[in-house]
Amino acid sequence: MNYIGSKLSLLKFIDESISKVVDTDCHTFCDLFAGTGAVGRHFKEKGYSIIANDMQYYSFVLNKQYIANHRPLAFSKLTTILPSLKKVKISERSQAVCEYLTNITGKKGFIYKNYSSEGTAKKTFVRNYFSSDNAQKCDAIRQQIETWRNKKLITENEYYFLLASLIESVDKSANTASVYGAFLKKLKQSALRPLILRPANLLINEQEHQVFQEDANMLIKHIRPDILYLDPPYNTRQYATNYHLLETIAKYDNPKIYGKTGLRDYTDQKSSYCSRSTVKKAFADLIKNAKTKYIFLSYNNEGLLSLADIKEIFEQKGTYGYFTQTYNRFKADRNRDYKASNTTEYIHYCICK
Ligand SMILES: C[S@@+](CC[C@H](N)C(=O)[O-])C[C@H]1O[C@@H](n2cnc3c(N)ncnc32)[C@H](O)[C@@H]1O
Repeated sequence: MNYIGSKLSLLKFIDESISKVVDTDCHTFCDLFAGTGAVGRHFKEKGYSIIANDMQYYSFVLNKQYIANHRPLAFSKLTTILPSLKKVKISERSQAVCEYLTNITGKKGFIYKNYSSEGTAKKTFVRNYFSSDNAQKCDAIRQQIETWRNKKLITENEYYFLLASLIESVDKSANTASVYGAFLKKLKQSALRPLILRPANLLINEQEHQVFQEDANMLIKHIRPDILYLDPPYNTRQYATNYHLLETIAKYDNPKIYGKTGLRDYTDQKSSYCSRSTVKKAFADLIKNAKTKYIFLSYNNEGLLSLADIKEIFEQKGTYGYFTQTYNRFKADRNRDYKASNTTEYIHYCICK
């Protein structure tokens, strides 16, 4: 997923920086602001037991699949209503279930009625986030997943696998430039292509992992990872508004929505890391309450926290240092009023006392 602040292209830098600092007796890795789960996934692959957390529900769903799920999904109970599935090898069943869901008939549900131009034609705000066929397909798949869960025909692990697959697939057919803060007037090519439910990747391994949906400053009081990795928002753009549609599809809770973009209420999901007036205190409290051997912070040179703030806060906790790398700006940011097309990415670290 093309996610603001995704660390997918910085994994090598993050990995090399962390390897230079930590000792070999580290087994648990916490990705406290996990987003798409890219960093947690990388360290899961390296054999760590992962704790992943994010305040957004769609991110929780992605991390339940990419991080917590670590065994093959057999869909055993679903074979009672889909007998043909019995003949499919367990390793291929996830794909088969996704194919079945891709082919179900569309439904005029919440997404169609509020986020397609056909469904909103007679409303105050006409919204063009999805083609009407794809919006109906999304509704039908989302409702079917919930029905199977309610009838106990799928396990919790299978439920999150299917939801994560839907979030990733729907994001590919969204009629947006990148985020959900606005939609395009005309349906773009990728939005016109029929929605296909593609199975989300599953990383099989032996470790147990934990996933939370909490405010980072609350969760920090209850965990003791060996390595704590922090990737908070850098600027004032709230994730809750930029990804509101993924949140609504993940929750499918018929929320009250408002305005041109059909935003849901996000009072409870406003991040203190996105405001100049609250960020320093939030970060200082987080570091003070951290019980860990090593802390790593991804941040860039244009973030709300200054380098001096970070240094001051880390030096109170232990030995401070940093690594840097030049980074090409996220595509959607390029036309904005920034002076540079490159930024310097930092990995700040603290070896805790
Ligand atoms: C820079 S993004 C993380 C990107 C992630 N490393 C990746 O590669 O996809 C920051 C994330 O922090 C989350 N977030 C913001 N404030 C938070 C808070 N107080 N507690 C937990 N998560 C928060 C946002 O929802 C967002 O997903």
